[in-house]
Order: sequence, then structure tokens, then C-alpha cells
Amino acid sequence: MATHKLLLLAGDGIGPEIMAEMKRVLAWMEKAGVASFAIEEDLVGGSAYDAHGVAITDAAMDRAKAADAVFLAAVGGPKWAAVPYEVRPEAGLLRLRKDLGLFANLRPAICYPALADASSLKRDVVEGLDILIVRELTGGVYFGEPKTITDLGNGQKRAIDTQLYETYEIDRIARVAFELARTRRNLVTSSEKHNVMRSGVLWKEVVTQVHDADYADVKLEHNLADSLAMQLVRWPKQFDVIVTDNLFGDILSDIAAMLTGSLGMLPSASLGEADANGKRSAMYEPVHGSAPDIAGKGIANPIAMIGSLAMAMRYSFNQGDVADRIEKAISGVLDAGKRTADIKTEGCDVISTKAMGDALIAQLEAQG
Ligand code: IPM
Ligand code: MG
Repeated sequence: MATHKLLLLAGDGIGPEIMAEMKRVLAWMEKAGVASFAIEEDLVGGSAYDAHGVAITDAAMDRAKAADAVFLAAVGGPKWAAVPYEVRPEAGLLRLRKDLGLFANLRPAICYPALADASSLKRDVVEGLDILIVRELTGGVYFGEPKTITDLGNGQKRAIDTQLYETYEIDRIARVAFELARTRRNLVTSSEKHNVMRSGVLWKEVVTQVHDADYADVKLEHNLADSLAMQLVRWPKQFDVIVTDNLFGDILSDIAAMLTGSLGMLPSASLGEADANGKRSAMYEPVHGSAPDIAGKGIANPIAMIGSLAMAMRYSFNQGDVADRIEKAISGVLDAGKRTADIKTEGCDVISTKAMGDALIAQLEAQG
């Protein structure tokens, strides 16, 4: 059995607590003979800043590059609100994305039937929801230059962020979306703001070209980002794969997360270009943040973290059957009425982070 090389970056806030539960699932998988792992751990975000004065060290970056998959739990928190911008916790996450070339961010939003009542939307709107947001992750306003604040000397300052996309960046993310749509319901909705942004005009043009040239069998729709935000809360089941840029993808994926009941449920995969052997650099992380308000209390939901492990089994290690088993364990636990506080519903057992880990492992055991 191939040994998968993992780098675990627990980060800040609830990060270490949810990563601890994922590690228990890794240990279970080893014991059950399902997979074999070589595990390294390092610091990222505020914890790296406290130890080394940077959001991630060069040594940790080297380990990330050498790994088959990186797992990042969460970064940031009020403790680091005043640290210099270049070394703020989020800079570690952004460096990982950029330097590993992780341009394709897959954010599935699946509403487990047992959780339909945990959503702020009506049950019939969200029950059975299964959509996939494909977010461009290494371009756009997150990385475009110039990115500055200039003192104009008259009591005024000028802040500039640059939204920038080139053809190849749009082309490759569109291909990821079309390929994935073919494995699902064969519909791609592309989203931008071509009515006010030049980058939106190019985005729409390139996505259409890629579609017409190579993916005419997939249905393509275009939806302005503001309208898409509205449609996501009106009737989200009309969508299958949504492809959009870095900033709109950030916003739309938080909306999509809430449809599923809790941000604590959503895993994500960030993938790079495949090399000659078909191997991609990859990082897996929950969509949620470090939740400093509940950190250290043992009540965080580890499901998004463990769901990210399922995504790794599917996208990095070609073990879709194991991914299915983990996802089945997640729905089994929910069906059994076990909930962390963020997804509690009427009449359910509210359990701790660790008890949720126990329950997931018990479900995996029970599957045999
Ligand atoms: C996300 C997060 C990050 C982002 C932050 C932590 C920089 O919100 O992964 O969605 O904006 O991309
Ligand atoms: Mg976000």
C-alpha cells in the first residue's frame, strides 16, 4: 500500500481541536488497513507568528511542497489583530495557496437531510441540496498588484486593490468546472460582474470559448454575482457547479455554507495543475475560520475538517471508496441525532468535539 505523505497545519483558534479529531480518524484508517500515512506537523498563522515572527516559515513551505497533501485547519484571531499586514495569520494561508499553485478551490455544499432544520432557510429549499462551488484561488483581487495604501499628504489616503485576470487563469479554472460537471448533473453556472468590471467581461468571454470549443455537451449559464447571491438563497437547488473568481467565490461559498445548516459542515479541496504523472499539489481545509469565540472550549464541530480528509482520499489518493465511507459515517452520526452546538436542532444530543470524533470512528467501525 502506498504511504501518503501528509503535512498537518493545525493553525489557530479551534484549529488544533478539530485537527486532533482528524488525526484520530487517520490513526483509525491506519489501524483498519485502509491507508498508510507518513505525517508531519508544522505551524501556520498566528501560532507561527508567535514562534517565528512570520505567518509561515520557509521550512514549513518546503515541507508543504514535499507533501502529497497538506491539511490546514484554521488561521487567525483577535490576538493578532495588530501584527503587521505582511505577517498577519491569513498571509500564511495565502502563501500556501499561491506558492503551491492551488488555483482550483472546490467547495461542495451538501445539505444532509438530518440537518435541513439547522439551516436558516426553509427545509424544502435546502433539503437534498448538492452543489459545488469552484472558486479560482490564486488570482484576482487577492493577489493583483498594485495593492497599496498611499498617504496623499492632505489628510487623505488612497487604497488600491487590483482585480486582475489573464486568459490562462480563467481557461484552466473553467476546464476544472466543466470536467466536474460531467461527473455530476452536467450544468455549469459561471458568475462575474461583466456589467461593471473588465475582468468580468474577459471571464465571461473565456468561459464561453472554453465551453464552445471543448465542453459543448455541458450546459453553461451565466449569472451576475449579485443575482447569483440572491438565487442561492431563493432556490439553490437550481445549480450544479458554480465557477467564479477568487473574491466572489469567497462570498458565495459562505452563503452556500449556510444553506447546509452550518459553516462547520463544509470541507474544501484546493488543487494545482496536474504534473506529467497526473499528480497535483493539494491542500484540504474546512471553509470555516478559527472561531476564536469558542476556541479551547472543546465544542467546535470537526466535521468540515474530517470531510476535508474525505476529499483528500478522493482527489489526491484516488480512494473514492474510502471518501464514501467517511461521508457515510458523517451522515450516520447526524442521522443518529448527534450534534455539536453549531448544528443543534430540537431533540438532538449536543456533544463535544471529541465526542463527535468518537461517534464518527464508531460509525466507521460499524461499517466494518
Ligand atoms: C476562505 C477564507 C480566507 C479567504 C481568509 C481566511 C483569508 O475566508 O478561505 O474563504 O478569504 O479566502
Ligand atoms: Mg471565506
